[in-house]
Amino acid sequence: MSYFIANWKQNLSIKEVEDWRDHFSFPPSQNTRVIVAAPHIHLPLLQGQKQLSLAAQNVSPFENGAHTGQVGASQLKDLVEFCIVGHSETRKELGDTDHTVAQKVRLLQQANITPIICVDQPYLESQIRTLLLELLEIKNVIFAYEPAASIGTGRADSPQRANEIAFKITTLAHNRSLPIIYGGSVDHLNVDDFITQDYLSGVLVGSASLDPEEFAKIIRHQQ
Ligand code: PGA
Repeated sequence: MSYFIANWKQNLSIKEVEDWRDHFSFPPSQNTRVIVAAPHIHLPLLQGQKQLSLAAQNVSPFENGAHTGQVGASQLKDLVEFCIVGHSETRKELGDTDHTVAQKVRLLQQANITPIICVDQPYLESQIRTLLLELLEIKNVIFAYEPAASIGTGRADSPQRANEIAFKITTLAHNRSLPIIYGGSVDHLNVDDFITQDYLSGVLVGSASLDPEEFAKIIRHQQ
């Protein structure tokens, strides 16, 4: 199974999402999972799209209650199958820590939402060790290796290095069956180099996913 995950971040107006939806199409394939991680307000606009699964970009580390500005896992569960956690932008701008990432993973799993956990060097060991300490076992998650220097810079990491890190993640997590994807300046020109690596099962695409035709080209490369 190959995962193609669009991460829209804080982009697109409601009108632009409607246009994106009208212009996005790709040939369905049983081996491909296409997921859009949209801002919470856009998720209802994308519901019911054929062959498209939805992800949130973040979730509250708390159970429902007095947490102004937060959206909880149990509130998202009717809208999304996946949720990104621990993205480097969320760690930097919203103060996510390894501990809050583990809390979010636990609440998402209780709501039957699959976490897409972003990790990076040089913190890989401690990021995964905290998950193991707090969850005891790491299963039913997707890991995304996202080197900070490659995010939004046009300078993707080397596919060989991404493959080595993916292998390291499965080893540290004590689970060889977890899907590991790569994110950072992926486009239709370099996607093949990542997707064909032994330990990589997909890509997380930021900027290039905002254009529905470019995102479809990235997916078609695999088919
Ligand atoms: P990028 O973003 O494709 O624009 O580099 C990737 C991400 O941050 O998920």
